[in-house]
Amino acid sequence: MSDSFDSDHPNIDAPAIGSPTTDPVPHPFEVKFASRVDRLPPYMFGRINNSLYQKRCAGDDVIDLGMGNPSDPPDPSVIQKLADAAADEGNHGYSKSNGIRNLRREVAKKYQRKYGVELDSESEIISCLGSKEGFSHMCLALMGPGDTAIIPSPYFPVHMYGVILASGNVVALDVADPDKFLSNVAYTCENMTPVPKILIVNYPHNPSSAVIEPDFFVEVVRLAKKYGLMVIHDFAYADVAFDGYLPPSFLSAPGAKDVGVEFTTMSKGYNMAGWRVGFCAGNAEMVRGLGTIKGYYDYGMFAAIQIAAIVALRDTEENVLAQSKIYQGRRDVLVSGLRRLGWNVNPPKAGMFVWAEVPEPWKSQMSTMDFAMKLLEEGNVAVSPGSGFGAAGEGYLRMSLVENEHRLRQAVRQIGKCLASSKPSNPELAVGS
Ligand SMILES: Cc1ncc(COP(=O)(O)O)c(C=O)c1O
Repeated sequence: MSDSFDSDHPNIDAPAIGSPTTDPVPHPFEVKFASRVDRLPPYMFGRINNSLYQKRCAGDDVIDLGMGNPSDPPDPSVIQKLADAAADEGNHGYSKSNGIRNLRREVAKKYQRKYGVELDSESEIISCLGSKEGFSHMCLALMGPGDTAIIPSPYFPVHMYGVILASGNVVALDVADPDKFLSNVAYTCENMTPVPKILIVNYPHNPSSAVIEPDFFVEVVRLAKKYGLMVIHDFAYADVAFDGYLPPSFLSAPGAKDVGVEFTTMSKGYNMAGWRVGFCAGNAEMVRGLGTIKGYYDYGMFAAIQIAAIVALRDTEENVLAQSKIYQGRRDVLVSGLRRLGWNVNPPKAGMFVWAEVPEPWKSQMSTMDFAMKLLEEGNVAVSPGSGFGAAGEGYLRMSLVENEHRLRQAVRQIGKCLASSKPSNPELAVGS
């Protein structure tokens, strides 16, 4: 008898591949995530997003102040350049993972023009697939088990979870008062062993809209040198500022390049959030570390996007200023409307958000998450509950300025109506108590 396999007459003693008798896989099949995934909490905005989705499917007109997702388009010249570059057959191959040279040069020119900072576009600038990608991969390049990063509190989620995913630990310090933040950084470094490795800063801050003056970064550099901290400044809101305030660049502090990097983005000021264009600039070794990680993970942005981004950086500075004016007008509408409702809100000097304290009696009666759900379900206004940015955000809401002034007025009316129609269950908790 031949040993060869005859498919028409298979040996009936040999089990067929995948037959139930030989299947070693326990049922039901279990997917086991890596422990780094288990360290992530449930997505805090899931409840809000689900309800928003259901409402939209049901045809409700929800005014969405949830995400900082710009609703205005980039300048038409930028869109046209993207179309032209996409029509060029030469632009469809893999690009360079650190970004095309002319784009990095344009970033260097902007730093020179706007902040007087000199950067070598070859070694001190790298392009990223949005600054969030760059930031999280920078954490991976710098951090590992046993390493600690100081982050702002409340925190933009990737500031916390970029570190956690890189197996690091975090110390979260209150961001509201910049002087206190710095003295807490010094205190942490004096008292913690081993000393933290990374200092993550973010001004204008998301979610709280806290801002700083240039001296802040002079002190950051001093502390970084004293304690050996590497600094990462998330400068996502560099281009969105009001009332003449100019958010300072970390890189303009003397010696900043010795100790750290700064992330910028075209998502906010240039209205290019979906394009995924960001940059990391500063310390050449840190930039190189990020480039090494990226070289393994990605092939860079679509070349047509990079070409159009050059046009945006080079030719549309006026639009960026005009966009800030638009946000400023929206800020005024939202802040004055909420104040009329009796809310205690400060007008932000920069960024895309109003960080509003939940008014009494609601603050004492329900979680910020439940309050946000109430505004959504009964008022058709979506906001981000402060608790989505860590425990320090409890008691606050983040309202983004992405809807136009007319819609913001409408949002205030709907919030007012929603709250007026539901009576507090504990009448002793009077407004302002
Ligand atoms: C503080 C902060 N950093 C980074 C990002 C992400 O920006 P990008 O679109 O460049 O990834 C955002 C977006 O909301 C942000 O608020």
